[in-house]
Amino acid sequence: MGTHAAARHVACIMDGNGRWAQQRGLPRALGHKAAEKAIDAVIKTALEEEIPWLTLFAFSTENWSRPEEEVSSLMDIGYQYLRNKVHEWHRAGIRFRSLGETSPRIPESLRQELQYAEQLTQDNDKMTLTVALNHGGRSEIVRAARTLIEKQVPPEEVTEERFAQHLPSPDTPDVDLVIRTSGEHRLSNFALWRCAYAEFTFPEVLWPDFRAEHFRQALDVYAQRQRRFGGVTGSIPRSRSPQPQPPTSLVAALPSLSNVLSLPGGIATRLGGHLLTGLYDTARYAKSQLDTRPTARL
Ligand code: IPE
Ligand code: IPE
Ligand code: MG
Repeated sequence: MGTHAAARHVACIMDGNGRWAQQRGLPRALGHKAAEKAIDAVIKTALEEEIPWLTLFAFSTENWSRPEEEVSSLMDIGYQYLRNKVHEWHRAGIRFRSLGETSPRIPESLRQELQYAEQLTQDNDKMTLTVALNHGGRSEIVRAARTLIEKQVPPEEVTEERFAQHLPSPDTPDVDLVIRTSGEHRLSNFALWRCAYAEFTFPEVLWPDFRAEHFRQALDVYAQRQRRFGGVTGSIPRSRSPQPQPPTSLVAALPSLSNVLSLPGGIATRLGGHLLTGLYDTARYAKSQLDTRPTARL
């Protein structure tokens, strides 16, 4: 827990439900139903990993072009799932949000359930779980532009910061990591603004088969990435929790380095400190790997 570099905001593009069903000769709707287990696993793991923002892409503005039967089963499955889960999430301290345009095409029962879940959980602070439903990256940018125009904001005052304040849920941080399953390598119009500097992983697994170990693998990969944000020096993402320091008993052994290496005391202490911190980090990483191996838990 807490061993991965700080991914504050992780988003999953949950893709591959249809192919999962197809491979089994099942109707596509059963692929969407099977997706629930993956969602359960990701939410549980994100809580364990203390990820403060988790976004799940559930239905895009383009997904309305699917056959009516598939759309209506998706909406129905979404409604039932949300109804089943909302109190469990509430007890776990999850703040639920939906991201996307409300639309009369979304069944009234689901719209009400979304609203209920948001209201019920609005004061929770363990993790914000955002479900992107009827979401389109371009559409939310256009809506932000419209609002600025309606408010007659002078052009010179339209800065990136001001613009971002007009996106839905403006307190949501940029996405750090996008995980898209099923081997597809595209954004499909997901959160275009907030993904400007996101890292990506593309696990080959179809979404209904996605589990805690895949999620942790993605976090591990993210932890190894160097994010430069247009700069030149690689910055290693900071850890979410304060870095534990090497035990003081080890640090106390440092002065002897100055004798062994014939270095001035100050330099030896700093060098030793770096060495020990490196060793200590390596040991913690090794332990986290053992902890996350399913067999190690048995
Ligand atoms: C993702 O799975 C779910 C939604 C887009 C709603 P798909 O239904 O896109 O699955 P594939 O890509 O057809 O396998
Ligand atoms: C993206 O998946 C949308 C969601 C996962 C909800 P799609 O399956 O709709 O994306 P494309 O059509 O393959 O780009
Ligand atoms: Mg798909």
